[in-house]
Amino acid sequence: MNFDRLAPHYDWMEAVTAGGLLQRARTHWMGELSGCRRVLSVGEGHGRFAAAFLQSVPEAKLTCLEACARMAARAGRRIERIPGAAGRVEMVVADVRQWKAPADAGGFDGVVTCFFLDCFEPETLARVVERLAAGAAPECRWLNVDFALPARPGFWRWRAAVVHALMYWFFRQAVGLPARRLTVPDPLLQKAGFRLVGRAEFDRGLVRADLWRRAGSAPSAQ
Ligand SMILES: C[S@@+](CC[C@H](N)C(=O)[O-])C[C@H]1O[C@@H](n2cnc3c(N)ncnc32)[C@H](O)[C@@H]1O
Repeated sequence: MNFDRLAPHYDWMEAVTAGGLLQRARTHWMGELSGCRRVLSVGEGHGRFAAAFLQSVPEAKLTCLEACARMAARAGRRIERIPGAAGRVEMVVADVRQWKAPADAGGFDGVVTCFFLDCFEPETLARVVERLAAGAAPECRWLNVDFALPARPGFWRWRAAVVHALMYWFFRQAVGLPARRLTVPDPLLQKAGFRLVGRAEFDRGLVRADLWRRAGSAPSAQ
């Protein structure tokens, strides 16, 4: 999988196909990260989450892990435009499957995966979630934002299935995406000690923003 070819087009493609929908989902639980010191955003892509985070949570440091150098460069340019933000960001160009979380400083107290976990087939996804959970602090919050299938059968579920099929077909052609369909990551996050404390649905359940916390920490008020 290589997003190099898509990187120059990612912004306009998102604007044309989804308007502000994906960004609303990315930022829905942003307030839940306000107490965090060190946040990891994996597969950060073009930097839209990172830019919003750096403006909303000025006290935190952000590590962006991104496999595609051209995507990381776009994110870097977006971040540079925010006064004082560049010094709070570490941009790591690496494949999460080879990356090891730094052993120092007690782990990340926030993990963010926006439209990232849906890239992987079940076996790889299990390894990715395990690896990220190993780098997370005991009180970690995990924001996972992704496409979803509405639970209730009917028109909106059927529409979501069609949208998924088209998206997977497109991304398989454009970037060599290994996954053929969405694998729901919830059981993997639960196995890693997280519990779901907030779920917001967008566009009739086509997109979901989930807030997970490691068991034992205080539940969200929202
Ligand atoms: C579908 S895009 C999502 C980008 C962004 N997070 C968003 O909200 O739109 C997936 C991103 O994950 C990155 N990616 C894919 N596989 C990766 C891996 N194994 N390690 C790190 N990043 C990866 C891609 O380069 C791409 O930028």
